[in-house]
Amino acid sequence: MQFQFTEEQLMIQQAARDFAQNELKPGVIERDEHQKFPAEQIKQLGELGFLGMMVDPKYNGAGLDTVSYVLAMEELSKIDASASVVVSVNNSLVCYGLEKYGSEEQKEKYLKPLAAGEIIGAFCLSEPEAGSDATSQRTTAIDMGDHYLLNGTKNWITNGGNASVYLVIAQTDTEKGHRGINALIVEKGMEGFSIGPKENKLGIRGSDTHSLMFTDVKVPKANRIGEDGFGFKFAMKTLEGGRIGIAAQALGIAAGAYELSVQYAKERQAFGKPIADHQAIQFKLADMATEIEAARLLCLKAAWLKDQGLPYAQASSMAKLFASEVAMKTTVEAVQVHGGYGFVKEFHVERLMRDAKITQIYEGTSEIQRIVIAREVLK
Ligand code: CAA
Repeated sequence: MQFQFTEEQLMIQQAARDFAQNELKPGVIERDEHQKFPAEQIKQLGELGFLGMMVDPKYNGAGLDTVSYVLAMEELSKIDASASVVVSVNNSLVCYGLEKYGSEEQKEKYLKPLAAGEIIGAFCLSEPEAGSDATSQRTTAIDMGDHYLLNGTKNWITNGGNASVYLVIAQTDTEKGHRGINALIVEKGMEGFSIGPKENKLGIRGSDTHSLMFTDVKVPKANRIGEDGFGFKFAMKTLEGGRIGIAAQALGIAAGAYELSVQYAKERQAFGKPIADHQAIQFKLADMATEIEAARLLCLKAAWLKDQGLPYAQASSMAKLFASEVAMKTTVEAVQVHGGYGFVKEFHVERLMRDAKITQIYEGTSEIQRIVIAREVLK
């Protein structure tokens, strides 16, 4: 067993850390306050190769492994989870889905600009009445011969406003249930495709989350991913990897709050000494450090399994379940360590606490992760 990172992995980690400190940190509070999408920062991340990290260089990707992706996600998320969710969705759900299951033409047309960060993508599974219960798709994609006629509404779509390419899951044949679902590539600007207003959220306020409406949108047959009826499996397989990205995001949120707490505890004086010298604070920091390390190991294990070509569904759900619970617990404790200062925006931990909550919800709630894990262990 090897617990050491390669030179390349350490380089990626350092590059992400530097980017987070130099480019994401300035302005992160204002972007959160005003719900401003980090457009300039995402453009820069694309130029640096962070939007197509694991994609083969022949499709403009960086050709890195999933372990490097976890290291980068942790560093970016320590500072700005609104930016890191864009990185996660583009890498894990959109680029991975297209590279693994798309046709050569789809890779040329869509994957190349997505991996180069020239455009960003969105993954559209959730609906007003189909979040956890993902087989209950109401959006329909009726087979019209050379195209599908797409009708319906998608909810809570990350990158909803800023994406150029949307992977949309829709029901073609209701009689076939989940085996009658397809995944279609929809372009922004296709006739009949409209985007609802940006959601006003508790956390990750800089990311843009929208409803999408499809009214008689004609999607060419060439834009279907995989065989007819492959859409639900496409979504499930893609989410397996997506959960590693969100687990690493949760890890980063926790680690960011922990690092701020350690620094603050050494500086803040109470009862004649730094609060770090009080056992009440020491116990909190020790628990945070231990739980974060456990979450990190689960994330890296899932990433390593994926890189080895081994099954990783259970590992990615375990990583996401545990890391998101650690993110929530750690950030609440970080606010407590900071006392009154923790409750004001300038000290960052209140934002991290609000951002942590979504990691227990998106890409499958904690309850969904428990279902996936239980099914694996009971197999
Ligand atoms: N890989 C391959 N196939 C899979 C699979 C997987 N991981 N999981 C399920 N399937 C297949 C099953 O084998 C089955 O196919 P067959 O009948 O041919 O064998 C089919 O899919 C249906 O499976 P189930 O009967 O197990 O389906 P279910 O209705 O019980 O639901 C579930 C399974 C795990 C609960 C699933 O619905 C699920 O993961 N729900 C959560 C969805 C989710 O994560 N949504 C998040 C939205 S995306 C997002 O948040 C992105 C963002 O913007 C940040």
